[in-house]
Amino acid sequence: MSKPVLVGCGNMGSVLADAIIEKGICSAKELTVVEKYSNQYTQRLQEKGTRVLEHFSELSGNQDLVIVAVKPQDSSEVLDEIATRIDDNTLVISIMAGITLEFLKNKLPDAQIIRCMPNTPCAIQLGMAVYCGNGRVSDKSYVIAQSILSTMGKAFRVEKEIMIDAATGISGSGPAYVFYLAEALKEGAIKLGFDEEQADLLATQTLLGSSTLLQQSEDSPEELRRKVTSPNGTTLEATKHFDSKGLKQILIEGFEAAYNRSIELGKPKEN
Ligand SMILES: NC(=O)c1ccc[n+]([C@@H]2O[C@H](COP(=O)([O-])OP(=O)(O)OC[C@H]3O[C@@H](n4cnc5c(N)ncnc54)[C@H](OP(=O)(O)O)[C@@H]3O)[C@@H](O)[C@H]2O)c1
Repeated sequence: MSKPVLVGCGNMGSVLADAIIEKGICSAKELTVVEKYSNQYTQRLQEKGTRVLEHFSELSGNQDLVIVAVKPQDSSEVLDEIATRIDDNTLVISIMAGITLEFLKNKLPDAQIIRCMPNTPCAIQLGMAVYCGNGRVSDKSYVIAQSILSTMGKAFRVEKEIMIDAATGISGSGPAYVFYLAEALKEGAIKLGFDEEQADLLATQTLLGSSTLLQQSEDSPEELRRKVTSPNGTTLEATKHFDSKGLKQILIEGFEAAYNRSIELGKPKEN
């Protein structure tokens, strides 16, 4: 595989750098990081032998593989720098939220471009990344993108870019929905008499155990839920209450609101 250049080594960029080294995509010495100011992540990588540059323009010659992990507001400046060192063999993978393929194509007309939406559990390599390419991406480049993005967890490709907005509403924002449920479980536990530490443990361990069970079991979520719910039992009382308030529908409407907002944020800004 080509030697990757990672532009932007903050929270997400450093996660990706660690994951691709750990999973053997490249060695620390084969990775180049471009980062404006030295930080704890670049220092750690430098100690392992990674080359760290301040500007993309310091690279000589065109690059084969560039991963862009700067904040969306820095995208324009960074893409202009990258544009000077790419050709139609270059694969550019962007993980910048809300930066569309159209915007990336306008900045990097020759490149093979992949836009990806990761989520925060990527930090512990249990992330979910969904990605989409422009018309120029070769089969080989898709294989490379799949192997790079799955170092942070699971990854899959979608054909239509609108599905990146859909993934934003589900897996991108999803961790926040789960943390919201954790907050409710914790507050509920305290209301029922547990102290804060016990309530924390009850919420966290219930979520961890349930999601691991869901992942390991062949049963659907509905079936697993049915198995916890005995007739006239305690769980049924709670789920009857949720249903009477239309909770599932409210949640789905929330996911749709996130999806719509993602589409809105991706639209070109009017002056
Ligand atoms: N964090 C998440 O969970 C998450 C999830 C999905 C997508 N994303 C996307 O991931 C991207 C990175 O997010 P983040 O949280 O990792 O941001 P971050 O911590 O701010 O990292 C971005 C890094 O890029 C550096 N940078 C800015 N301009 C640069 C330039 N011209 N050349 C080289 N480096 C430059 C920044 O330096 P300075 O700080 O000095 O400006 C910063 O260290 C964002 O586009 C975000 O939308 C993040």
